[in-house]
Amino acid sequence: MYKKNIGLQLSTIIVVCLLSLQSFAQSWDIPADKKAKNSYIPFTAVTAKEGEAIYTKTCMSCHGNPGKGNSLKTLKPVPPDLTSSITQQRTDGDLFYILTTGRLIMPSFKNVFSEDERWKLISYIRSFNKQYVQVLSKFDPRKSKLVKFALTYEPATRLIRMDVKATEKTGIVLLKNDEVELYVNRYFGRLKIDKSQTTSAEGIAYFKFPNDIPGDKLGNLELIAKVSDDNYGEVEYQKKLKLGIPTDMPPLTQKRAIWNVVEKAPVWLLATYTTGVLVVGLFLLYILFNLWKLKKSGTINTIKS
Ligand code: HEC
Repeated sequence: MYKKNIGLQLSTIIVVCLLSLQSFAQSWDIPADKKAKNSYIPFTAVTAKEGEAIYTKTCMSCHGNPGKGNSLKTLKPVPPDLTSSITQQRTDGDLFYILTTGRLIMPSFKNVFSEDERWKLISYIRSFNKQYVQVLSKFDPRKSKLVKFALTYEPATRLIRMDVKATEKTGIVLLKNDEVELYVNRYFGRLKIDKSQTTSAEGIAYFKFPNDIPGDKLGNLELIAKVSDDNYGEVEYQKKLKLGIPTDMPPLTQKRAIWNVVEKAPVWLLATYTTGVLVVGLFLLYILFNLWKLKKSGTINTIKS
């Protein structure tokens, strides 16, 4: 009897712990500067409509129709109805952060939607809140033209040094504490180099560069640097550097290959196909021939028993 009680107590404790863990997981841990971020796009009926189009395509399958409480209940945690007071009490920066980073089932939309598109989604979410008053960001997208990058390679350490600054009329502003990324352009999209880094107080970040990326005939690689800054926005810069392995790759359509046009299909494929067609054709001819023979041998006699 006593033992049973201990078991019961233990399981109660475990259940309580799990429950508190779950409620613990429900709060988003959002850095203060991200919380305070505001949209540079004024929210209007037009931006809400554009956001709605994205929402219907991408979010509705999980979050349901706003205000209808018909989100996908089989998920854990259940995706909240975005018109709820819990969501509406969050800052625009919170929502932008949640959309950008995601968490567990809630996907990250950082590389799916541009900043503009993410703000338009928030504009749509806000359109259900009559009390909402927008605070606009002071950021002006035209300022992104002032951002200048420098990419230099340090052979001894195989590090790429990235310098990011903005040339304002009042002088040079170093972009410090910003997230920066480095990519190499490939046939089918971008290859990310190293992890995302944060610029130092001098506006500098370093990336470890691999030594096995095939380049063009001369070893050139197309590098893409990207910075996300609250005042200057998301800015990209491209530069060719001779950091790859020189590779003389024939174009994809030069050799016989399965993805090429008929004249350049692989021989085995042509042979198999032709044999197939011939065999079926000859078989049909053989049937026709036999039918003809049957006909020639006279009318078919009914067999009398
Ligand atoms: C695969 C299902 C799924 C998709 C698709 C999805 N979400 Fe979510 N979303 C979730 C889940 C689950 C949560 C709860 C996450 C948590 O609390 O850990 C969530 C949370 C959120 C929150 C935070 C709500 C709050 O106040 O706690 C916002 C905002 C949000 N989603 C917006 C969106 C938008 C906008 C889209 C479309 C671009 C989207 N979600 C697409 C599953 C999804």
